[in-house]
Amino acid sequence: MPIEPISHSHQLYMAPMKGFTDCVFRQVFAEHFHGFDLAITPFIASKRDCPVRRRHVRDAWPENNTRLTVVPQILSKVASDFAAMANYLYDMGYDTVNWNLGCPSPMVASKKRGSGLLPHTDRIDAFLEDALTAMKGRLSVKVRLGWETPADIFRLLPVLNRYPLEEVIIHPRTGRQAYEGGVDLEAFEACLSYTKHTVVYNGDIRTLADFQRVSRSFVDIDRWMIGRGFLADPFLPDTIKNGQDQKEGKIQRLQQFHEALFHAYATRLKGPSHLLNKMKGVWRYLALSFEPFDKTLKKMKKSTRPDQYLDLVNRFFETEAKLISKK
Ligand SMILES: Cc1cc2nc3c(=O)[nH]c(=O)nc-3n(C[C@H](O)[C@H](O)[C@H](O)COP(=O)(O)O)c2cc1C
Repeated sequence: MPIEPISHSHQLYMAPMKGFTDCVFRQVFAEHFHGFDLAITPFIASKRDCPVRRRHVRDAWPENNTRLTVVPQILSKVASDFAAMANYLYDMGYDTVNWNLGCPSPMVASKKRGSGLLPHTDRIDAFLEDALTAMKGRLSVKVRLGWETPADIFRLLPVLNRYPLEEVIIHPRTGRQAYEGGVDLEAFEACLSYTKHTVVYNGDIRTLADFQRVSRSFVDIDRWMIGRGFLADPFLPDTIKNGQDQKEGKIQRLQQFHEALFHAYATRLKGPSHLLNKMKGVWRYLALSFEPFDKTLKKMKKSTRPDQYLDLVNRFFETEAKLISKK
């Protein structure tokens, strides 16, 4: 089959993944893999009743984010708190921040934050009015279709049209769905006729073929966000940009990336259990790239000493690891 490189006008965004794509991960990732143009940070919760301090926005410190352009994300339902944190971030040098209107976690949504705010169009309207008046820089938003139903987004988009947003990132599931079921591409398509903003598509891009399918369906979209798919296959953004999968030396590159990540976290995290928890978490998605290796994976998860864990993983990469072939 002829190779069809994608147009370079396409922009790929690293999705915010709380617990996974922190600044340590983003730096090491960008050193080892290519293809992303930008990353949105996992959400930083705004602060109530206290001034924003530098340590509150540690993940966005410019010195921790030298390799990838970053847009910090804030989770909040109080416009003044949001604006205070946004202004702090603009003063650090950022020109855009992102508002999280998508988090499906019941703990967050039940407090009318994240996707729990989506049914409350009036509150979002008032929030934007107040926050944008107080903010010194630009704003983008990340949304789902709604909390329970896509009716929420069809009510919301005309309201968003009244505000000067950088872009609207849409993950076409409801909050209630969390990550279950499929993405609703029909509803996503309908969204495009309701909005005047630039739209970023986000959801279930796991392979080059997935990307080709969605990009052919939505020819006017040229910004794409990828989360779980790139954590499982770190080569994916580059594969998409080049229109072909690379064949040579992948396992070795994954091993080098894993080892660099291990050492980067070892210098940042206090104590072996934090380090081990972090590294074991990486396998939640990365394991999906390999032929099943249940016994070794179980041993990795059981290891209690970082040196033992690293030996085991290196042995896996050198003797057992076999990448699954992709359709
Ligand atoms: C473990 C996990 C953590 C996430 N953390 C965030 C977050 O902090 N902010 C956010 O906007 N979305 C967050 N998301 C949602 C992702 O950014 C993305 O919208 C979702 O995974 C769908 O994209 P994907 O199919 O490419 O993974 C998270 C998702 C997962 C699975």
